[in-house]
Amino acid sequence: MSALDGALTRFSRQALGQSVDRLIQQYRSGRPPSTPILNSDLDVAAYAGYRMPATYAAARSVFDQVAVVAPGFQPRTQIDIGGGTGADVWAAVDVWSSLADITVLEQSSQAISLGRRLVGSAGSAALRQVSWTRGSIDVDSPPPAADLVTLSYVLGELPERRRADIIRWSARSTAMLVIIEPGTPAGYERVVAARDLLRDLGLRLVAPCPHEDDCPIPRGKDWCHFATRLPRTSVHRRVKDGALGFEDEKFSYIVASPDNWRRAAGRVLRHPRKPKGQVALQICADDGSLGDVTVSRREGSRYRAARDLRWGHEWPPVGGDLEPVGDGTEFG
Ligand SMILES: C[S@@+](CC[C@H](N)C(=O)[O-])C[C@H]1O[C@@H](n2cnc3c(N)ncnc32)[C@H](O)[C@@H]1O
Repeated sequence: MSALDGALTRFSRQALGQSVDRLIQQYRSGRPPSTPILNSDLDVAAYAGYRMPATYAAARSVFDQVAVVAPGFQPRTQIDIGGGTGADVWAAVDVWSSLADITVLEQSSQAISLGRRLVGSAGSAALRQVSWTRGSIDVDSPPPAADLVTLSYVLGELPERRRADIIRWSARSTAMLVIIEPGTPAGYERVVAARDLLRDLGLRLVAPCPHEDDCPIPRGKDWCHFATRLPRTSVHRRVKDGALGFEDEKFSYIVASPDNWRRAAGRVLRHPRKPKGQVALQICADDGSLGDVTVSRREGSRYRAARDLRWGHEWPPVGGDLEPVGDGTEFG
């Protein structure tokens, strides 16, 4: 039995279902919680069964895009802030086998305890040796010094007045800062605020943005987000009702670096449409514009490249994009 199965079988399906409902309500409310959300073994097990596969998939998609534009980025160290049960460190190790020294900073001892059990049986030595640090984010402490610093699905749990300081602190000593939030209008607002702050600090925006002008997406009408489809694991199906064999996780993100990495010339902003003999793309372009690009079959290799594109990939591809995640990773 996997560590996750072991954690889940301690609780009845009903108790897990109720905990999942509470988590959904809390996350949908968009309000920073007044007390930590993951503060019982039940809630942590429900999170790991219901949310962790999706946050893993989002992080994996983001890291894949970072690897596309920055193939020379080979991090050895990672600090995952508000790492929960460790979704980001699993995703990072799957993309960067160079990682050898990983720390998760997390306030919930129950999340740490399950995260530690999950990596206990991981194939990767870097995962098995993750250092789990219990603590609260403290901008008066030394900033996280690691090649890769990740902050995923955390900003929304922090009071708004603290976010800018925490972003500055997170960015101070890293070669690559990755911030991921839910792909909702509120998640995007937090991401775009982080984006502008990081740009104004002089960092280079690595992804998804093809430029550093103001975000051209009309605020209040649309929001920049991406999606990844993941199969529902057996655990997920047990915790959550529903016949669907998959779910779509929507996320917004920003990646910034002090280094001069290549940027995409354009980014695909929606699922490509495929009318007969054509691929229709909505593109955020490096000249700061948003626009539609139609590629027709007559365009040969350009058409073949467009046909394989997914929402969130760069356009035109340079050396080929990676396939999206979809392997139904089971933790532990
Ligand atoms: C929604 S979970 C995301 C967990 C993980 N990053 C993921 O993507 O699955 C947010 C996590 O941030 C942690 N967190 C929130 N505020 C924190 C703080 N001030 N210090 C440390 N951890 C914090 C929570 O305990 C929780 O585990």
